Amino acid sequence: MQESSLEQYRQFLKDSVRKTIDFSRTDQSRGVPPPPIQKPYSSEAERIDLVPPHEFGRLPGADLLSSISNRHSRRQFSRSPLALEELSFLLWATQGVREQSAGHVLRNVPSAGNRHALETYLCALNVQGLDRGFYRYLPLEHQLVVEYRDDRAAEKIARAAFQQNWMSDAAAVFVWSAIPYRTEWRYSLAAHKVILLDAGHVCQNLYLACEAIRAGTCAVAAYDQELMDQLLKLDGKDEFVMYLAPVGRIG
Ligand SMILES: Cc1cc2nc3c(=O)[nH]c(=O)nc-3n(C[C@H](O)[C@H](O)[C@H](O)COP(=O)(O)O)c2cc1C
Repeated sequence: MQESSLEQYRQFLKDSVRKTIDFSRTDQSRGVPPPPIQKPYSSEAERIDLVPPHEFGRLPGADLLSSISNRHSRRQFSRSPLALEELSFLLWATQGVREQSAGHVLRNVPSAGNRHALETYLCALNVQGLDRGFYRYLPLEHQLVVEYRDDRAAEKIARAAFQQNWMSDAAAVFVWSAIPYRTEWRYSLAAHKVILLDAGHVCQNLYLACEAIRAGTCAVAAYDQELMDQLLKLDGKDEFVMYLAPVGRIG
């Protein structure tokens, strides 16, 4: 790669707030109403209740010290299914709501300006009580909305990830999309760096939460953008996939 393009791309990692944003001209400052904090869904959409957080006490739960010291990227999974309770815990740990009051929602992961530009899709392959296919997590309701069922979901998701075939043995694949405008509304051109930082926290919570329940995961950023967006039925412009993490039982 040309030296000049490297230098140009590196700028993206730096503090760009003062240089790139005129805060008086962001959509927020101009009085544009904020976008929804969760992607809307049709009132006719099929929804599945997840196990509520107050019942997670029944899960085995390794302590934080062991979860951190055991954490590594796992690409080999056993064939045993993930229970819905375990999946509920993992979704809650990565995007769940911690506190909710009038117009104010805080989650279990931090996010720049509390904007939370990510949506969590789930490719369910071996989860008790879920047909194979694609779902979306609704943090506000702590439910899954059914996107579509697909018996061939395992081979399709691996193909869209450059044939990383180990992914097909996962019990579920977390797929995070970004809706950049949620963060751009406040931070304009400085939004994109912080959306990436947000994604790192989400995935690390997934690693640690998996270790706590004797499951494992591996972050995945190598995927075919067009194929993956098509698989999730995303427009690739206002919403697109940016990160994945297959999860399965280990040992
Ligand atoms: C942003 C990011 C992208 C990654 N993408 C992939 C990937 O596409 N495929 C894969 O097998 N591993 C992927 N990994 C996992 C890394 O290879 C792994 O974290 C690294 O080798 C260190 O191993 P450890 O996680 O066990 O400490 C990714 C990790 C990160 C943080």
